[in-house]
Amino acid sequence: MTIEKRILVTGGAGFIGTHTVLQLLKEGFIVTVIDNLDNAVEEAILRVRELAGDELSQNLDFHLGDIRNKDDLEELFSKYKFDAVIHFAGRKAVGESVAYPFRYYDNNLIGSIHLYTTMEKYNCKKLVFSSSATVYGQPEKIPCVEDFNLKAVSPYGRTKLILEDLARDIHSADAEWNIILLRYFNPIGAHESGKLGEDPKGIPNNLMPYIQQVAVGRLPELNVYGHDYPTPDGSAIRDYIHVMDLADGHIAALQKLLARSDIGCIAYNLGTGCGTSVLEMVAAFEKASGKKIPIKLCPRRPGDATAVYASTKKAEEELGWKAKYGIEEMCRDQWKWASQNPWGYQSKASEDKLAS
Ligand code: WQD
Repeated sequence: MTIEKRILVTGGAGFIGTHTVLQLLKEGFIVTVIDNLDNAVEEAILRVRELAGDELSQNLDFHLGDIRNKDDLEELFSKYKFDAVIHFAGRKAVGESVAYPFRYYDNNLIGSIHLYTTMEKYNCKKLVFSSSATVYGQPEKIPCVEDFNLKAVSPYGRTKLILEDLARDIHSADAEWNIILLRYFNPIGAHESGKLGEDPKGIPNNLMPYIQQVAVGRLPELNVYGHDYPTPDGSAIRDYIHVMDLADGHIAALQKLLARSDIGCIAYNLGTGCGTSVLEMVAAFEKASGKKIPIKLCPRRPGDATAVYASTKKAEEELGWKAKYGIEEMCRDQWKWASQNPWGYQSKASEDKLAS
């Protein structure tokens, strides 16, 4: 049981945030969430409370706020003593970042700098940061190893790379800072209950939320971007990881940070080490859902890599963490979420109201 440790989770109402908050509560942590609900809804927090149960939900408080607003941060840090921060808050759509770079530099960079300066003021110097495999750019070889050269291929990726460098600089300047950077590969799936899941606003950028919306009839077909890649079936390969595995990776990183103060600033891949192609994923989802996913073979999407998947050795050895779920479970749980919540957290009625 965890002794009364309070954790601040920024962006805790989001896809990965909610799944991680639920696991933190189950591990006995006290959790404060700040989220501006820019890309999330408070209903997701209500679902977390429902799944955690009455007793554990007493250890969760939600604050509507923005990490770009220093007053919002001051209000929290002057009220609570945080033992560590898990920092999810930020925008994460590659395509959107190309169209609206200001939005990405403002949310991801400015917001993080306000958070870190407030943490320093209140002597809270243990941080788990939500990084991304996108910092590997178009990797020259695979699997991706944490000591590869890093490069960004989009404004979104550049913000993640700059924030990793910022974390390294903060630690170099003050060794009391202990920071773990978690590089997510492709998070998919949902909590086994079907009550939590990914619910992007607008047309999904990512593969699985798009497939999910085709399966429930919200979209007519899936555009498969690229069928001439040098891969067995011609479609691109990625390392998809169950969001519950990802949540457990955060718990492992947090426990390491709370147990020791000589961590420094270290990056870990959170992936499965397995590659799955787009067409293989379509087939797996059809099997899990019993639904036919119509596809249209399209040209490659600019900026996409042929194949990206993780070396998982470092996280296994140093975090004692390894992904447990495979593609079948990811598709099973993604379908349960989609079939029970075809319009995500918004009911169809409110969606119609939004559309009118
Ligand atoms: C996966 C594959 C597409 C949509 C990005 C970010 C990464 C992380 C996950 C935040 C690619 C193909 C997709 C579609 C398709 N985000 N695809 N039709 O680009 O690997 O990674 O999201 O951390 O940082 O870079 O994920 O799901 O967009 O694409 O064929 O409608 O599916 O071309 O091959 P990606 P993705």
